[in-house]
Amino acid sequence: MPLKKIFLILLCTSLSWSCAQEQTGTDRETEKKISRLISQMTLEEKIGQMNQISSSNMGMDQGLAEAIEKGQIGSILNEVDPARVNTYQKIAVERSRLGIPLIVGRDVIHGFKTIFPVPLGMAATFNPTVVEQGARIAAREATATGVRWTFSPMLDIARDPRWGRIAEGFGEDTYLTAVMGEAMVKGYQGTDPADPASMAACIKHFAGYSAAEGGRDYNSTFIPERLLRNVYLPPFQKAVEAGALTLMTSFNDNDGVPSTGNTFLLRNVLRDEWDFSGFVVSDWSSVTEMIAHGFAKDPGHAADLAVNAGVDMDMMSFAYITHLPELIKEGKISEKLIDEAIRNILRVKFRLGLFENPYVDENLHKDVFYAPDHLELAKQTATESVVMLKNDGTLPLDETRIKTLLVTGPMADAAHDQLGTWVFDGEEHATITPLQAIRDAYGHSIRIVYEPALSHSRDNSPAGIRKAVLAARRADAVLVFAGEESILSGEAHCLANLDLQEGQSRLIEALKAVGKPVITVIMAGRPLTIEKETTWSNAVLYSFHPGTMGGPALADLIFGLEVPSGKLPVTFPRSSGQIPLYYNHNRTGRPFLGNETLLKDIPPKAGQTSLGNTSFYLDLGADPLFPFGYGLSYSAFAYTNITLDKVSYGKDEVIGLTFDLTNTGKYTATEVAQLYICDKTGSVTRPVKELKYFERITLNPGESRTVNWTLPVSELAFRDLNMDLTVEPGQFELWVAGDSVSGDPVLFEVH
Ligand code: BGC
Repeated sequence: MPLKKIFLILLCTSLSWSCAQEQTGTDRETEKKISRLISQMTLEEKIGQMNQISSSNMGMDQGLAEAIEKGQIGSILNEVDPARVNTYQKIAVERSRLGIPLIVGRDVIHGFKTIFPVPLGMAATFNPTVVEQGARIAAREATATGVRWTFSPMLDIARDPRWGRIAEGFGEDTYLTAVMGEAMVKGYQGTDPADPASMAACIKHFAGYSAAEGGRDYNSTFIPERLLRNVYLPPFQKAVEAGALTLMTSFNDNDGVPSTGNTFLLRNVLRDEWDFSGFVVSDWSSVTEMIAHGFAKDPGHAADLAVNAGVDMDMMSFAYITHLPELIKEGKISEKLIDEAIRNILRVKFRLGLFENPYVDENLHKDVFYAPDHLELAKQTATESVVMLKNDGTLPLDETRIKTLLVTGPMADAAHDQLGTWVFDGEEHATITPLQAIRDAYGHSIRIVYEPALSHSRDNSPAGIRKAVLAARRADAVLVFAGEESILSGEAHCLANLDLQEGQSRLIEALKAVGKPVITVIMAGRPLTIEKETTWSNAVLYSFHPGTMGGPALADLIFGLEVPSGKLPVTFPRSSGQIPLYYNHNRTGRPFLGNETLLKDIPPKAGQTSLGNTSFYLDLGADPLFPFGYGLSYSAFAYTNITLDKVSYGKDEVIGLTFDLTNTGKYTATEVAQLYICDKTGSVTRPVKELKYFERITLNPGESRTVNWTLPVSELAFRDLNMDLTVEPGQFELWVAGDSVSGDPVLFEVH
């Protein structure tokens, strides 16, 4: 071990907190202040710091005020009235014995007032810069109410779109999720978390929550350690390295151990391996849910398991406040363990500057909510998040050639639903729908006819469809806005069937039969299975719930003021029966070849003969509807001259890569160029492809650019047979392409 590290460990130990990061003078000062506070705290006050309650569950009543005054509450969540936040804070700071401020939390998931696309949509931008700036704006708006802690970003890798919470994360890829997670942490926390416009990030849900069996929320997961470490944990590690101040446990049990009682995850990995120095909060009542899991026998036992595993703060199960005193007295939990938890919590409160600056300016929000630059960035993010899945040349629409345009479908003017899941503070009145935006921008030159056809995404009534069909006959083009209402995705909103709801499907089919160009825009919180509807449409734009400025963003794309540039952050299956279906699956002994006999080709009375003997479905083959990374443009791009600077690299070297990207189309456009690799042989089987890098590159028509990228060989590391993080020597393939299935491989070696 290097001397410097030994010295640091000794120093940290002497200050009674374990960290391998270098401590600054300020850190040392803070640790001393924390020690002083801890030495003055009664057991009741200590346990109070570990207790978080929702203000919406208490109201501003006498009980809450008294509890804060007695030091029985360390944090409240769900209070966004600045005056009430100040009232609570005043009680904590001025009337409680030690004056320890509260930390106020809220689920600010994709914006506070100005709502950005759902995180899955943000991921489709492949643009960490706008994601970081968006998180900064969310912080600016939320902190104007006194909220200094958001329960975001969600870093769960989602390989199952039936799981409703897929909307809240960055999709199926580990690298993309890690990049976006880091961007959000930096945006929320800013360069200085103590800036009153910064808030603490909370990376969640640790860990594996998204792998719930069958895509049913809260269900068990069975993720072996190698998969956990290769796929599910790296985004969390990256976010910890980026300085994330807090982390939330998850509801699931993995291989029998609920995350809220998982010592391996919370102590061995998070604290010992990653040196996390922030605090860990449970998910909502996940401490006592260990009783329902059958892991704890009663609330006291649950508190015991959670504290011992390393959960510092109990969100809304009241098990700590009720049972820790007796557990400590009985010697089941040492006071030293409690002091560690308090230290973690107080450290975050100090880092947020809450001791120096506990109050919020109650008038600030008037200047901050929906500020013009916030709306501008929300529009840019929404524009970049839209993925064009099909276009036969119908898009972009030419304003001068259309006299009558039919706008139809239940999502055309659905301000509430286009905001997406987990929106508590965004408002309909501030939201611009596609119908409004198209009327505003083109109403003077085009006759815009609006026939909603269906009142909401689950409406199946035929009367409205008939009206829309009549209107389509008199129109030059038809714009259908379909998808799912915001309530159909999000926590506990899982679906077994991902087809577009029946009425909407019938609407698109009926419009197609009219014979006018049909442009379908889907707004949803997840991939939907839209194979038929894609066939019936001349063009398809997929917009994950796009937020406040979704309307203007879509209008600009439809009329060609902007060119689509989003790429899919998740594989789109043809049918939910194919799930799980993700691009970076391990190599099998019998991969699908594409020439297998399918159901329709099997003769009657077929004998027990080989129909291909590969990994596929008789009815659907093995290919998705659209692969990860896919997305069209009004322009087109060519990748040529992909060259590596060497044929063989040492483990400590950096791969130098050059290619020419040419815009071969007619529009100035942005391409998301993607770098994939495949490790051809390993001590354990490796994925067929893995994303390792990407970049958005904008080119004028006909313009060509030589792009230089570097990739450290260390980025090829994975957990080997012994669970060590290793780069194994051998052959690799590398692709540079516009999606996860295109391009020809270039070979290289690691020696
Ligand atoms: C969710 C968390 C959320 C918490 C607080 C839970 O139900 O799983 O993601 O942060 O509630 O609202």
